[in-house]
Amino acid sequence: MSDDVMQKVISLCKRRGFVFQSSEIYGGLRSAYDYGPLGVELKRNLMNAWWRDMVHRRENVVGLDASIVMHPRVWEASGHLAGFSDPLVDCKVCKERFRADHATVVENGADVTLHFADKGRAKTALALISDQFGVELERRGKELIGATAGDRGYVCPVCGSPFMSEERQFNLMFRTSMGPVDPMGRLANAIEAGELDGLSGSDLRGCIDRITKESAVYLRPETAQAMFVQFNNIQQSMALKVPFGIAQMGKSFRNEITVEHFIFRSCEFEQMEMEFFCEPGTDDTWFEYWKQARMDWWQKFANHPESFRLRPHEPEELAHYAKGCYDIEYLYPWGWGELEGIANRTDYDLKKHIKYSGSKIEYFDPVERKRYTPFVIEPAAGATRGVLSFLVDAYCEEEVVTQKGTDVRTVLKLHPQLAPIKVAVLPLVKKNGMPEKAREVVEAFFQRGVNAKYDAQHAIGKRYRRHDEIGTPWCLTIDGQTMEDGTITLRDRDTMEQRRISIENAVQEIENLLRD
Ligand code: GAP
Repeated sequence: MSDDVMQKVISLCKRRGFVFQSSEIYGGLRSAYDYGPLGVELKRNLMNAWWRDMVHRRENVVGLDASIVMHPRVWEASGHLAGFSDPLVDCKVCKERFRADHATVVENGADVTLHFADKGRAKTALALISDQFGVELERRGKELIGATAGDRGYVCPVCGSPFMSEERQFNLMFRTSMGPVDPMGRLANAIEAGELDGLSGSDLRGCIDRITKESAVYLRPETAQAMFVQFNNIQQSMALKVPFGIAQMGKSFRNEITVEHFIFRSCEFEQMEMEFFCEPGTDDTWFEYWKQARMDWWQKFANHPESFRLRPHEPEELAHYAKGCYDIEYLYPWGWGELEGIANRTDYDLKKHIKYSGSKIEYFDPVERKRYTPFVIEPAAGATRGVLSFLVDAYCEEEVVTQKGTDVRTVLKLHPQLAPIKVAVLPLVKKNGMPEKAREVVEAFFQRGVNAKYDAQHAIGKRYRRHDEIGTPWCLTIDGQTMEDGTITLRDRDTMEQRRISIENAVQEIENLLRD
């Protein structure tokens, strides 16, 4: 699958009201997206399907909807405040900002070649390197040769330059403040009082950090932590017996340095996470269970199940506390990318919150009459990444034969349960009582809570194409025969086959198809 498909999906998303760039009329905000009328339906359908299959269809899983802003100590306990950071570097030649741990690896002392888009940029870089670093390179067209890699072990991933800033730690959590104290006011007072005089570098930073930290709170970077923090309340109020799970879905925020591939990696996104608490010793079995259950879940909505795979983490990828971790990956147009992680987190998180909060978080087994801290299996999925996966999975261009020859139709073969509009009701012409009849049918769907759409604009062929493009699985057409014998045409999006059904049975028929 090529990058071309990605461009087509992005263009369709804008043209048909799935996803828009945030604040577009102001030039857009980096990596922020708005889900339009069809996108919000698709995202909700996906998240509702997750909730139905993870919570409603399971006796031992309950839900939670926690606040996005939590006590700052939560993030100290979870390690996000100290460790949720990436080593960040600026290339002093092309100005690219990149993660040191994602840079191109080059041995210390190796010869490196710098590449630029054109000769002009190469000339500018040649002069800059000579002026700023006193290094004379040789230019050959768009390349500069003669540079040597330093002891960092990497070069700029864009131009190949070894001329870089120091690595800086960059916290991925969005910080804001809560309460009546204005942190900027506090800082101004401290400056006025001379408290910062003579400080520089990390001392100055540390002092500012201390002053502003008093009122600092953070937007959650994952939904998971609230489920550990509320373990006691949920277990006791619902009298839950281990093994049981707590599920939560909603917004998370990460100040990502690299935002990429449309909604794949953005700063504001939605997650669907579940913490499954089990007795130590049973964790391996539950880990295997959830790995397979989650893989099956994604594949059941896919046209191409082979585009999903389970990949075990390499030992160097594994978080220090995790006993095991698998990623469910999807084959995006640019290659395999993570969609969900399933981790055996042991008792690490609960134990951390016990330590930081001083609270007793444990489970009493009434049968075995013993107390213990449960282990946790965590399937953590990206909802917005799921939307992108299913848009790519569903996008299809097909050659079709028409009266004038052949044509190409664009179809979004979305699973009917995910499709934004379930059924379009189309009067063949805007006369002879057909619009009125069509409105009656639409109303019957509304009564049943099925998202139906009345559509009378343009010729019937054009309307079918429009609904193919937005993934509407079925179209019902009211025509002259309807007015005579009470039948309507049911057209299938994928096969384009049409059959006549009784208007009386239309709602039931579509409901049956949706259930299948
Ligand atoms: N509680 C564990 C956790 O949050 P994660 O692998 O960091 O694990 C889980 O996130 C899922 O959330 C990922 O597999 C991915 O689908 C999604 N995700 C993470 N960061 C994202 C981002 N910046 N934009 C969109 N989705 C993201």
